[in-house]
Amino acid sequence: MTSAPDPIALGALAQAVAREAGVLLMERLPGTREVDTKTSPVDVVTEVDRASEALIVARILEARPDDGFLGEEGADMPSRTGVRWIIDPIDGTVNYLYRRPAFAVCIAAEVDGQIVAGVVYNPFLDELFAATLGQGATLNGVPIHVSTEARLAHALCGTGFDYRAEGRRVQATVLSRVIHEVRDIRREGSAALDLCAVACGRLDVYYERGVHLWDVAAAGLILREAGGRAEPLTGEPFSDGDTWLGTNAALYLDFRALIGGASGLDAPSKC
Ligand code: IPD
Ligand code: CA
Ligand code: CA
Repeated sequence: MTSAPDPIALGALAQAVAREAGVLLMERLPGTREVDTKTSPVDVVTEVDRASEALIVARILEARPDDGFLGEEGADMPSRTGVRWIIDPIDGTVNYLYRRPAFAVCIAAEVDGQIVAGVVYNPFLDELFAATLGQGATLNGVPIHVSTEARLAHALCGTGFDYRAEGRRVQATVLSRVIHEVRDIRREGSAALDLCAVACGRLDVYYERGVHLWDVAAAGLILREAGGRAEPLTGEPFSDGDTWLGTNAALYLDFRALIGGASGLDAPSKC
């Protein structure tokens, strides 16, 4: 019989599986080549993305055979328990391909539509970010918190760019308006690690247009549990392609107004 969806147990399973997938990523790192492209010629997938997702799904199914899945590389199964796992088997695939140390395995557990546990594991640095709903967030078991920076002009801001040229044209316009208003910009190459960076004070804010649920599900919970905000710019429930904001608590309103204005949107009414 399938066990009850206890968020702490789901989080522990996610952590164990993410660590195992991390070992796979590190073993296969040296010889990895792209095997396919997706939304554009520079949106690559490697055999390790697929192997990592297959491993994660297999391990979770061994423990919880009736759960559902949504994975970037195609996992898509309905849930018979109310639990759905949202997986990005490598966030930062381009970094992985170039052996740059900013890539991570992302696993989130969603129960009846709410993310209740999340893990983002960077095996290169052996950094494991984790959170359970209502229990705070940790990095390698140590509690983490967002920065207290409240001045937009002093905020270190992360962002990311689309794989498609048209998306990048819009992003370049928005970036040209944002860059004058903040301390500086960083582009790490992993949306999940960017959100975790805000969660532990390595960035103050982050935004990106065009993210997917698997990029932000686990890391968004980690940031919220670290005392920050992580949500779509619209303030509405997430849909694919939205602009996503991640901020410390102090900068949320100013940053949301900045990104809304730079994107040509009215500031959303919901706070
Ligand atoms: C990408 C990375 C990148 C972000 C893109 C994502 P992937 O994920 O997170 O930093 O800018 O929006 O799609 O393709 O490496 O899993
Ligand atoms: Ca991703
Ligand atoms: Ca990915």
